[in-house]
Amino acid sequence: MASLGVNIDHIANVRQARRALEPDPVTFALLAELGGADGITVHLREDRRHIQDRDVELLRATLRSRLNLEMAATAEMEAIALRIRPDMVTLVPEKRQEVTTEGGLDVASKLEGLTGLVGRLQDAGIPVSLFVDAHRTQLEACQRSGARWVELHTGCYAEASAQAQPLELARLSEGSFIARSLGLRVNAGHGLTYQNVEPVAAIEGMEELNIGHTIVARALAVGLETAVRQMKALVQNPRHDPLFGSTTP
Ligand code: PXP
Repeated sequence: MASLGVNIDHIANVRQARRALEPDPVTFALLAELGGADGITVHLREDRRHIQDRDVELLRATLRSRLNLEMAATAEMEAIALRIRPDMVTLVPEKRQEVTTEGGLDVASKLEGLTGLVGRLQDAGIPVSLFVDAHRTQLEACQRSGARWVELHTGCYAEASAQAQPLELARLSEGSFIARSLGLRVNAGHGLTYQNVEPVAAIEGMEELNIGHTIVARALAVGLETAVRQMKALVQNPRHDPLFGSTTP
């Protein structure tokens, strides 16, 4: 059964739109926990466009669940992670111009630098996950880097047309299989919604889904605690797989 990591970057987006004090992502993280979040994810971007350093520090001090820090593979972020000591670091690619993370990390072409960073974080007791596309080459590179976890990029699945979605789902499922056969543990995320999450949650070996935008969007109507509870029900107990018609666990 997959667990749910709630990404609260969009709460900080609303605050930063006014450079104000509210809404405070730290308060909303606690509400997400009340709704059943198994973990809270934040992306501390180099340009600090949403989450701020103080948010990460306060989350570390107040969360009862787990803190997953998404970050770019830079010296600045490494120092912050080693100081804050999140429960997991997820390394993601970062471009200043992008609206949100585009594509997975190219671990295969950056293997040497990433291996050093993964080693230093893991030596400090911080598990590292690499956000990658579900391709064998990338997954094999993840294993070589020494990381124990991957987060499969579900953006292609989420954005696919109705006809193409079964193929994208099969790619994710195969990615999970390959990753696990390489000894890696598997999370997934990006672009998942209340409508498309269940088949991904039902993939064998899926440990945690990281979901933000759709939950915060629904929270505007029903409140964050309820929005998280509704998503958690889908993630924990995915219905009959609507794409393949197979019975899911
Ligand atoms: N996982 C990663 C690595 C991400 O970068 C993001 C977006 O910040 C998410 C999951 C969550 O994506 P979404 O907000 O589309 O649910």
